[in-house]
Amino acid sequence: MKAIRGATTISADTPAEIKDAVGELLIQMREQNGLTDENMICILFSNTSDIKSAYPAKAAREAGFYSCALFSSLEPEIEGALPLCIRVMILAEIENPVPVYLRGAANLRKDLKKFAVALDGPSGSGKSTVAKMLARKLNILYLDTGAMYRACALKAIGEKVERFTEDAVAPLIENISLNIQYTDGAQRTILDGEDVSEKIRRPEVSMAASAISALPCVRKKMVEMQREIARKMSCVLDGRDIGTHVLPDAPFKFFVTASSRVRAKRRYDELRQKGYDVEYDNVLQEIEERDYNDSHRAFSPLRQAEDAVVVNTDEMNAQEVLDFIVRKIQEKV
Ligand code: DC
Repeated sequence: MKAIRGATTISADTPAEIKDAVGELLIQMREQNGLTDENMICILFSNTSDIKSAYPAKAAREAGFYSCALFSSLEPEIEGALPLCIRVMILAEIENPVPVYLRGAANLRKDLKKFAVALDGPSGSGKSTVAKMLARKLNILYLDTGAMYRACALKAIGEKVERFTEDAVAPLIENISLNIQYTDGAQRTILDGEDVSEKIRRPEVSMAASAISALPCVRKKMVEMQREIARKMSCVLDGRDIGTHVLPDAPFKFFVTASSRVRAKRRYDELRQKGYDVEYDNVLQEIEERDYNDSHRAFSPLRQAEDAVVVNTDEMNAQEVLDFIVRKIQEKV
């Protein structure tokens, strides 16, 4: 069991303000921590004594949090304390608690200021393994943006789209029901209500994802979703255009790369381990084709951001890459 902290402020002591602020806080805590009715044990609130119009616990019930025990208490009057502040602690059966401080309360935890780490690079460079490890180490979210393009490809394959053109794909993408959820810190990709996290890893989806991700209608929609997630919470994003296009102002940017032979070997081992009957030469050819597609498309191609730190992982294992990246981040803060 872990304790997750959070806090927010209201601008006036009214039941409507309390309901709004508590609802927003709990929903973000739920999203960022993968909370469910099953894994949440209790929610404890405390509020400053200038809040008298409603119990935060009541607001929580009204926001739909009624399956676990709720408790409200009053904080002592402390001189100079942040006024109109509601604090919360949620006890839950999860692995990695992510604290959430919103509105005026964001200043209480300057160490938690939202930031993004961009990890770009070609297929098989090892960036997703490192991105996951890094997110865990920094206690922030990992967003695998490739999974989003893979889900678009799966949708198009499912709808029997034969040629990936703007005209054929745009109507599908416009109304796509794509949700990124987190279960115990692991990203799950939900397409039309179905968890497709495994299906999107199939080799045929990889090639289709590379093709579909070249379409502006697809990129525009996915980039909007990625920016929205990064606006709400600190995260490590791995992709192709994070540092150049999605979040050009990200404070930490890395371009993780390796030779195509090393990348093909890694992908080959991974696919074999999953039971796919693949040939090394075919995997290499696919990697090189995808590299070409991803870096030659007209719209937002795979490119190293000028201010990104390049990490060549040919001779490094995941732990060494992680240590290198963490060191670079620490040097900068
Ligand atoms: O990282 P991956 O192999 O899961 O990505 C699948 C495809 O999606 C890849 O060929 C390129 C594309 N992609 C992209 O164009 N931009 C991103 N930010 C992430 C992936």
